[in-house]
Amino acid sequence: MENLLNWFEKRLPVMNAYKKHLSEYPMPKNFNFWYLFGSLAMLVLVNQLLTGIWLTMSYNPSAEGAFASIEYIMRDVEYGWLLRYMHSTGASAFFVVIYLHMFRGLIYGSYQKPRELLWVFGMLIFLALMAEAFMGYLLPWGQMSYWGAQVIISLFGAIPVIGDDLTLWIRGDFVLSGATLNRFFALHVVALPIVILLLVVLHILALHEVGSNNPDGIETKLPKGEKGEGYETQFAFHKYYTKKYDIIDSVPFHPYGTVKDLIGVAGFGILFAYVIFFNPEMGGYFLEPPNFEAANPIKTPDHIAPVWYFTPFYAILRAVPDKLTGVVLMGLSIAVLFVLPWLDRCKVRSYRYRSKLHLANIVQFVISFIALGVLGTLPATSLYTLLAQIFSFGYFMFFVLLFVYSKNEATKPLPERVNY
Ligand code: HEM
Repeated sequence: MENLLNWFEKRLPVMNAYKKHLSEYPMPKNFNFWYLFGSLAMLVLVNQLLTGIWLTMSYNPSAEGAFASIEYIMRDVEYGWLLRYMHSTGASAFFVVIYLHMFRGLIYGSYQKPRELLWVFGMLIFLALMAEAFMGYLLPWGQMSYWGAQVIISLFGAIPVIGDDLTLWIRGDFVLSGATLNRFFALHVVALPIVILLLVVLHILALHEVGSNNPDGIETKLPKGEKGEGYETQFAFHKYYTKKYDIIDSVPFHPYGTVKDLIGVAGFGILFAYVIFFNPEMGGYFLEPPNFEAANPIKTPDHIAPVWYFTPFYAILRAVPDKLTGVVLMGLSIAVLFVLPWLDRCKVRSYRYRSKLHLANIVQFVISFIALGVLGTLPATSLYTLLAQIFSFGYFMFFVLLFVYSKNEATKPLPERVNY
């Protein structure tokens, strides 16, 4: 048996990869609550893939049959209601988890050198995820599916010169129709899931190339003086940890990380089950009321709003009276996150050792983002539009201020070793 395994391992080093990327991956021992969301994002991804495959077995991707097939899944397919609620709740859960995951990166400066590429892959995942959620939302062919897609696709029409041709190309028809539904279905169930999976693999590989950051934002080290080499990075730690991991910064991922992540899975599972079984519509935020009515191209719903996870960006779009400027600003609000690693010029990563100004800036950013999210769900009255303009300003000022003060920021001294 051992010979057989060795033969296999020599030709395809699976065990080696398993150790490097999982069981023996050096996990900084000061990981906290905020480090639960990467593995939870993977869990939700698997949930979406599995429930999605089973939903596809009974879903009918046509303008005539889509709405009825969702009703069929909810009422007649065995456990169809569970599959659908797991998938619809999973979509919202994905964004909750991802926003918290990104927030962690923000407060601990995980996007800074040498983790810029890791962050950029994360942002590409975020973009792909938004496209995936947007296209999935059209599939039930309800009123909000139809009119939400109508509003968003028409935004491309604001682009000068090519706008009209571009919207025509996206819709595949002169109006939003079954042709649009078909292509969104193909992209939602095949193309984008492949892209997302690929990006997640690249994200993890990029992380494991440079190692994890941690709440102190310092590089993890081995004991000083080992072999007279001074401080080594965490990747040399396998030689030491069996004897000495009480005096080094990192611990092997198994069992420490696996057990920690299991606690996250349990907590998440309880919340997830609560929503699925007791509150799947979540007060109209996860499944919007107009979507219980079939799409009607000649009747606009009173109030069109995207699902909650898009509303911060939607509020920025609506804050600007001019459509094209609104579209540009909305695009910019996402684009600016891509270049965050280069906007922050501070040498210190974690907010723990950075200035009070930086902390205040993060707090105002979070308030602005949440306020925009709330405003995006409300009708655009003149008061709400004014508020959306103020908070959009707060959103963008975060990046401008960060760029300005981070160069010569008054930081606190960093600890030698991680605080545990
Ligand atoms: C499907 C979506 C995603 C999955 C499955 C995923 C998975 C993971 C995992 C498993 C980790 C290591 C464990 C942890 O640090 O929690 C991680 C780390 C990280 N991720 Fe993601 N991620 C996703 C999306 C994103 C996005 C959208 C961003 C930001 C734009 C991002 C930025 C980061 C950063 C900066 C780290 C390193 C954090 C540190 O070491 O302090 N990820 N990710």
